[in-house]
Amino acid sequence: MSARLLVVDDERAVRTALEVNLSKRGDEVTLAEDADEALRLLRARPFDLVLTDVKMPGASGLDLLRRVRQSWPETPVVVMTGQGSVEDAVAAMKAGAADYLVKPVARDELFVVLDKALEQRTLRAELVQLRREVTERYGLERIVGVSPAMVRVYEQVAAVADSQATVLLQGQTGTGKELLAHALHYRSRRATAPFVRVNCTAIPESLLESELFGHEQGAFTGAVRQHRGKFEQADGGTLFLDEIGEIDAAMQASLLRVLEVGEFQRVGGTGTLTVDVRVVAATNRDLRAEVAAGRFREDLFYRLAVVTITVPPLARRLDDLPLLVDHFVQEIATREGRVVPPPSPDTLARLREHAWPGNVRQLRHAVERAVLLHREGEELHITAVEEAEAVADAGPAPTPVPTPVDGRPLGEVLEQVERAAIIQALRAAGGVQAQAARDLGLSKSNLHYRIRKLGIELADLDYR
Ligand SMILES: Nc1ncnc2c1ncn2[C@@H]1O[C@H](COP(=O)(O)OP(=O)(O)OP(=O)(O)O)[C@@H](O)[C@H]1O
Ligand SMILES: [Mg+2]
Repeated sequence: MSARLLVVDDERAVRTALEVNLSKRGDEVTLAEDADEALRLLRARPFDLVLTDVKMPGASGLDLLRRVRQSWPETPVVVMTGQGSVEDAVAAMKAGAADYLVKPVARDELFVVLDKALEQRTLRAELVQLRREVTERYGLERIVGVSPAMVRVYEQVAAVADSQATVLLQGQTGTGKELLAHALHYRSRRATAPFVRVNCTAIPESLLESELFGHEQGAFTGAVRQHRGKFEQADGGTLFLDEIGEIDAAMQASLLRVLEVGEFQRVGGTGTLTVDVRVVAATNRDLRAEVAAGRFREDLFYRLAVVTITVPPLARRLDDLPLLVDHFVQEIATREGRVVPPPSPDTLARLREHAWPGNVRQLRHAVERAVLLHREGEELHITAVEEAEAVADAGPAPTPVPTPVDGRPLGEVLEQVERAAIIQALRAAGGVQAQAARDLGLSKSNLHYRIRKLGIELADLDYR
C-alpha cells in the first residue's frame, strides 16, 4: 500500500535519507524543513501520515504534533527524537503521537513503525464509518409506523434517550422492543460506546450471575480464567437486559443491589467494581401483574421502571400495517435480489383482519415467505403463518422460545450450552464419568476431550 507521507526535518541529510528509503518501497514522500512549511503543505492537501523531527529551529516537532492533532485528528504523527531525549518521546506520546523513533533511525524499524501507525489509521477510519452505519441502522429511522400510538412511543424515546434514567420497554412479543432499545442507545451520547445485550432467558440461571458480573479465575467449576461480565463490557454504554421478567429471585436480588448502590463484585472476587452503565430492560410480560402475583420484586420493578415505554401491539395500530408490509417487501426483495409486485388492496385488507399475536415479527415472516415463494407474473400472496395462530390460542403474552444466538458468536453460545450440559450430566451422575458420557450420548473419550477443551475443573464440582 502506497501512502502519502509528509517528512519534516531541518537537516537536509536526514530528509534525503528518509526520502530515498521511503520512496524505494513505494511511498509518496513530500519534504518540509520546518513546522511552518509542514503546516502549509498540510493545508494544501491531505497526508496519510506525518513523520517529524522534534528539535527544529522555530516551532518544534511537538508544536507541530499538537497542531496536527487539532486540525487533522485522523492523521497520525510519528516523531523522531534524538538519542537520550526520553522526555521528548514521553511528551510526544502524551500529546497524542502515534509512535516515536530514536535517531539515527534504522530502516527496518522505520518501516515497522510507519506501517503500524498507518494500519491504526485505517482501522480507526473503518470504525468511524462502521459506527455511522450502525447509528443509521438503529436510529429511529429504521422504525416504521406513523400511527398515533407509535408516534407517542417515538416521542417518549426521543425524550429519554439521552438521559441516564433506566427504561423499561414493555410490549407483546415482536412489537419492536429490541429495535427501540437500540434506538435509545444510538440516540444518546453513549452511541459510540458499547451496546451490550443480555437475553436473560437464554442463559442458564446458574450462569447468569457470572455472565452479568463476571467471575474471577477459579470462582467455580469451569472458571478457568477471569471473565469480564456484561456490566463491565457495557461500561460507558448501555446494558440491555432483555426478557427481564424471567429472572429468578436470587438474580432479582443481585440486580437490585447493583442498581441501588452502583457497585458489584465479580463472582468469586473481593474487589468492588463500579461502572458507568445505563440500563434498558424489556419484557413481554405485564411486570406489574408479576409483582402483584409475587413473582417479581416490587423494589426492583420500581428501579427498572423509572421510565416505562409501552409498545402497542400491531392489532392496535393496523393503520401501520401497509407501511410495514411495504417496508418488509422492499427490504427482503432487495436482500434476495428479486422483483415482486406490491400486494393488492385485497391482500392488505385481509391482513388487517388477522389477530397478529406475533406482531411485527410475525408480519415480517409472512412477507418473507411470500417474497421467497413468489413466482414471476403472479400476485404477491401474503398470509399469516398458521403456527402463530396457535400461539394466540395459548393466551396472551406467550413465553418466547429462547433464542440463544442473539448476535453473539455461534461458537460462544454453543460452548456455553455444551458446558452447562456437561456439568449438569456430571452432577447428575455423581461424578461418574462413564455414566455422564452415556447420558450425554457421548463416548467416554469424547467426554474427556470436551471436559479438557472447556476447562471444566472436576475437582470443583460439588455432587449433591
Ligand atoms: N416498527 C417497526 N418497524 C420496522 N421493523 C420492526 C418494527 N417493529 C418490529 N420490527 C421488526 O420485527 C422484528 C421483531 O422486533 P423485536 O425483536 O424488536 O421485537 P421484540 O419486541 O423484542 O420481541 P420479543 O419480545 O419477542 O423479543 C424485528 O425483525 C424487527 O426489526
Ligand atoms: Mg426482544
